[in-house]
Amino acid sequence: MSTKRESIHGQWSNRWIFILAATGSAVGLGNIWKFPYITGENGGGAFVLVYLLCIAAIGIPIMMAEVLLGRRGRQSPINTMKTLAREEGRSGAWALLGWSGVIAGFLILSYYSVIAGWALAYVLNAGSGVFTNAPAAEIQNIFAALTASPGQLIFWHSLFMLMTMLVVARGVKKGLEVAIRFLMPALFVLLLIMVGYAISSGDFVRGLRFLFTPDFSKITGEGVLIAMGHAFFTLSLGMGAIMIYGSYMPQNASIAKTSIIVALADTAVALLAGMAIFPIVFANALEPGAGPGLIFQTLPIAFGSMPGGSFFGTVFFVLLVLAAWSSAISLIEPAVAWLVENKGWTRIKASAWCGFATWLMGLGTVLSFNEWSAYTLWGKNFFDLLDFLTSNIMLPLGGLFIALFAAWVMKSSSTADELKLPENGMAHTGWRFLVRFVTPVAVIIVFLNAIGVV
Ligand code: PFF
Repeated sequence: MSTKRESIHGQWSNRWIFILAATGSAVGLGNIWKFPYITGENGGGAFVLVYLLCIAAIGIPIMMAEVLLGRRGRQSPINTMKTLAREEGRSGAWALLGWSGVIAGFLILSYYSVIAGWALAYVLNAGSGVFTNAPAAEIQNIFAALTASPGQLIFWHSLFMLMTMLVVARGVKKGLEVAIRFLMPALFVLLLIMVGYAISSGDFVRGLRFLFTPDFSKITGEGVLIAMGHAFFTLSLGMGAIMIYGSYMPQNASIAKTSIIVALADTAVALLAGMAIFPIVFANALEPGAGPGLIFQTLPIAFGSMPGGSFFGTVFFVLLVLAAWSSAISLIEPAVAWLVENKGWTRIKASAWCGFATWLMGLGTVLSFNEWSAYTLWGKNFFDLLDFLTSNIMLPLGGLFIALFAAWVMKSSSTADELKLPENGMAHTGWRFLVRFVTPVAVIIVFLNAIGVV
């Protein structure tokens, strides 16, 4: 019986550790770096509203589906999909879903590590006091100088990849658990301090209005696609990261409750980041649509002028690095687990090879900010294309197939059994309805809308 299966990679000590790990995966650069800048680029309130709707109607149900598949299969996403498909009498080709996740994780980590490298560089910047009393223009120059230098970017990217692979090599308990225990609460407190600064010194009202007053004339079909893609990205869905974390989840934990807690925590962090950043943007007449450099050009202004700013700045970027770190390990974990299962490699060997390949791929992103910045396709450079392909196409497609598998392939009795919900009760029926109809239809409509068909 599938529920008795055990993972060869280990198991979280208890359900709180699963919540911490999944939150660690979900909360990362996506919340603090990406959410504010794509909100800025897509006009604010309406974008935020679509994003929140996607979290509630698509994200949470798919998260439950992913965790349930993972816990039932208890292997890497590739082998989990193969096993569960066979168990339901279907083709082993469902393993392809696991493969697309492994590729998406590899591609995302390749650029994620470069951006996390910026955060590493900013730990040093903040600590050295270069932001103290620096005018906004000077702070923009510091960012421009960093991204213009392939050498510096490669250095920080290499350091971050090394940190990531060290944790992954140590394995589920010793590596992943230890790294995430204290991180989330600390990050939360620091964000509250930043919002406090934004209230006292930024243009808080204008920031809030930008974030929460929807103006639908400002959002396009592509904007809706980006909002949906970000819902997947920020919750780590559609590529097997949450599936593999689910495979380490204790058998008795409630999947529904834990998924909701993780989604709420993730959303809270993103909204707090927005509330910390936009008041500073407006108070300093900066451009909300400044792009990927937004937080690196705004928050240092706050650190430069607040009392104890060097200290808070350093702590903030350290936490940002830690948040990115706990997400990065989940991006590569599915690939490493598969190599251990199928090739019999040690975790150390698997981590080293995955890390090296990802590092190499990351050089493309490094160059896209300088040497290759003029090479674009559809107005997007290498980094933009990679981000667009993974967040807005691969993750939603992965999520779509996860939904189809959980609600159309798996028997209702199997999902009720794994979710530990009464099969015909409201919660299970409601979830199945969302995953069976609402999620697939929504994803397909958003895709068609973005390419101009509907
Ligand atoms: N959720 C992470 C973030 O918001 O930074 C990024 C991420 C991690 C995406 C793991 C996908 C994933 F599987």
